[in-house]
Amino acid sequence: MAVLDIQVQKPVAKVSPTLYGLMTEEINYSYDGGLYAEMVRNRTFQDSHWDLPAWSLVENGNSVASVEVDQSAGPSTALPLSLKLTVKTADTNDQAGIKNSGFWGFAVRPATTYHGSFYAKADNASIGPVTVSLLDDNTGAAVATAAVPSLTADWQRYTVTLKTGRVRTSAANHLVLTVGRPGTVWFDLVSLFPPTYKDRPNGNRIDLMEKLAAMKPAFLRFPGGNYLEGDHIPERYQWKKTIGPLVDRPTHPSPWHYHSSDGMGLLEFLEWCEDLRMQPVLAVYAGYSMMQEHVAPGPDLEPYVQDALDEIEYVTGDTSTKWGAVRARDGHPEPFRLTFVEIGNEDFFDKSGSYDGRYAQFYAAIKKKYPQLQLIATTPVKSIKPDVIDDHFYKRPEEFFDDTHHYDNTDRTGPKIFVGEWATREGTPTPDFGAALGDAAWMTGMERNSDIIVMASYAPLFVNVNPGGMQWETDLIGYNTLASYGSPSYYAQVMFSNHIGDEIVESNLNGGGPRLFYSVTRNSAKGLLYLKLVNASSIAQTINIKLTRAGDVKTAGRLISLSAKTPDETNTIFEPAKIVPVQSPLTNIGPSFRHTLPPYSIHILEMALK
Ligand code: AHR
Repeated sequence: MAVLDIQVQKPVAKVSPTLYGLMTEEINYSYDGGLYAEMVRNRTFQDSHWDLPAWSLVENGNSVASVEVDQSAGPSTALPLSLKLTVKTADTNDQAGIKNSGFWGFAVRPATTYHGSFYAKADNASIGPVTVSLLDDNTGAAVATAAVPSLTADWQRYTVTLKTGRVRTSAANHLVLTVGRPGTVWFDLVSLFPPTYKDRPNGNRIDLMEKLAAMKPAFLRFPGGNYLEGDHIPERYQWKKTIGPLVDRPTHPSPWHYHSSDGMGLLEFLEWCEDLRMQPVLAVYAGYSMMQEHVAPGPDLEPYVQDALDEIEYVTGDTSTKWGAVRARDGHPEPFRLTFVEIGNEDFFDKSGSYDGRYAQFYAAIKKKYPQLQLIATTPVKSIKPDVIDDHFYKRPEEFFDDTHHYDNTDRTGPKIFVGEWATREGTPTPDFGAALGDAAWMTGMERNSDIIVMASYAPLFVNVNPGGMQWETDLIGYNTLASYGSPSYYAQVMFSNHIGDEIVESNLNGGGPRLFYSVTRNSAKGLLYLKLVNASSIAQTINIKLTRAGDVKTAGRLISLSAKTPDETNTIFEPAKIVPVQSPLTNIGPSFRHTLPPYSIHILEMALK
């Protein structure tokens, strides 16, 4: 039998208070069609000009009309093109217009208010009202409708409020904008939002934000990932093009094979941090894009370094600074707290070997202006000692089982570690229980070493499980248009981050099979001891737990457990709660007590210190 000795009153190191956080980027329809609550797909008609994804023509009754992208008319410099609707024949009963199919439909719920808007102009005021309706795909009935009385010859933004009554909850709906008279109308930036988290305009999906809140994340690493770099230098994440009014955001192609609306811009990322009380971990573009394009260190890189300095000022500067004032103009006068800035992403892919020089140039310039910032390198560099190194791990369960001691002997005088992307890759679209076991085993190793691992974040965070929604398999949280669910790995993380503690406690395990993993921490403020145990084996494991200074521990505690019958068992959009944490009382705690872990199980024993 395995014997685990725990020196209850002997902390050996501090747990990083920022250990568990989130990594995010536009992948798998994470923002557009995901967290960002916009319901209209391809709202600025830029996803692809020739086949107009998500849009089609409406010709009701005997109406006759046509649509085309007009490259010469748009409401702003950023949006130079629009959708031109030419109506030859129409009347009040036989209306013509345009229709959007949304991100795999429109989520319609009863008694709900939706805020719509669009930019438009007409060749002639006699075009009359524009009717905006959400229609049921199956019946054609309007589930909500509103109208804008008339248009002018100049671009203007119009708003509508759509309210549903006693309708069925369903994603099988579409949006139409129609007119009842002949003429020409140009549309752009057609938008519709449901209620959002904390009622933020241009905000986030409530169910997904609630799932993230339950993870108690300490930080958000953004905006990537590959999404930061882009395939080519002009396709990098250009933060200055993602701020201010939506009409001034040109949108951009992303490396994950779909266009980004940039509705989730720099300020929206920061407000997301604010809403969940996370600190931003800001990744700045560092002169490398994924198709082996790089900017040489030296004068060529200077504009990129300046762009990063401007970005940091936008995040942290007060309103007397140039970019702090722009942030205030954008609606957020309060600066954001920033500790970590990451220089690039996965620069070990840059075969030119330029990262050392690029990192050093960014480091010198940022430290000169912001000496307090911790600067993360994405791969080891020689010319300078980085504050933090970002390590990424995508592994199979058995590889993580074999690697839980990865950081045990890491030099404590070297750079701190940020495990900025990690995941056990097994299961699609979301991890199965076998992957959750790999994750939990890996997390015990990270916790034991969280004196040197300052932060860790699973990736990717999100996947839209609709057909075509996924570009990367094994993602933490899945969703469709209406609903979302946490994978077993998600629940393992919720368990770990809700019982993180602030001190690592001395302990020693003897015996136990090769697939038994553990960590022990305590929460000094709350007086709680947390023992995390992972049994990744197909057989039960009994452990004799010996508590030194057991008199300091109350006999009753709490057990939080997550388990499955097989490693293949999982949660899905159809069975979202097959595997969820279960709580029960722990009653037998003493100087030496036995605890049995069933096959394939993750347990947290929470014990109260007297
Ligand atoms: O998480 C998916 C991708 O994996 C990230 O964009 C990239 O950084 C890594 O290669």
